Amino acid sequence: MLKVTNLSKIYKTGSVEVRALDGVSFTVPTGDMVCIMGKSGSGKSTLLRQLGLLDRPTAGEILLEDTSVTRLPDSATSTLRLKNLGYVFQEYALLTELTAHENVYLPGMMLGGRGVDYKKRAADLLELVGLGNRIRHYPKELSGGEQQRVAIARALINSPKVIFADEPCANLDSISSKLVMETLVNLNRDTRVTIIFVSHDPDDKQYASSLIILSDGKIVEQDDMRAVTLDD
Ligand SMILES: Nc1ncnc2c1ncn2[C@@H]1O[C@H](COP(=O)(O)OP(=O)(O)O)[C@@H](O)[C@H]1O
Ligand SMILES: [Mg+2]
Repeated sequence: MLKVTNLSKIYKTGSVEVRALDGVSFTVPTGDMVCIMGKSGSGKSTLLRQLGLLDRPTAGEILLEDTSVTRLPDSATSTLRLKNLGYVFQEYALLTELTAHENVYLPGMMLGGRGVDYKKRAADLLELVGLGNRIRHYPKELSGGEQQRVAIARALINSPKVIFADEPCANLDSISSKLVMETLVNLNRDTRVTIIFVSHDPDDKQYASSLIILSDGKIVEQDDMRAVTLDD
């Protein structure tokens, strides 16, 4: 479970202050698939970065399975990120010099352990996202949608508890977008990994079990959609 209480983030640029998040509170049960929506500049990426421990909030608290993770030392935060959290970004963020396979197993190697095990797991994960026949391809030899599915496999290498995806389909055509969203939905359904994703596309609500809408750094709407998404 992820519990957020009164989370605020103020960016200071010179004498200008931007209150990007303003007292946000909510709870995400384990296994949920949460969609965050809102206009450009409403604070979606800021919220995701605070939840993903990629930044530090100005005020408020985040509990990850009953442990407060808001004020841990940097080294503990890094380890927690590597072991428990996975990330998928709008621009894929794959290393161009590495193959799909190498991109996926690299974050596993960073935790120590046997390389051979991570290589096997990485190949299995690429198979899982439908890219079993692309593992030796370099990012430039893959379509945008394929690169994003490599990024999803990479996010899974250390069996995270939560995956954060910030507009994962923003650069994709509608067919690739559908494939990427279905990959995420299937993962959520099959492994019960909690997924929190940001989207611009109102249609993406169909993939979520709950919805948070932000405006000016505040939650203006919060819906539990589980009752209407029981399609399996
Ligand atoms: N690093 C930053 N420094 C200063 N202001 C920022 C920074 N990141 C975001 N902002 C501001 O915070 C607000 C929320 O931004 P963001 O979370 O990126 O919105 P969204 O993802 O919903 O488009 C915006 O007004 C933006 O200009
Ligand atoms: Mg954003």
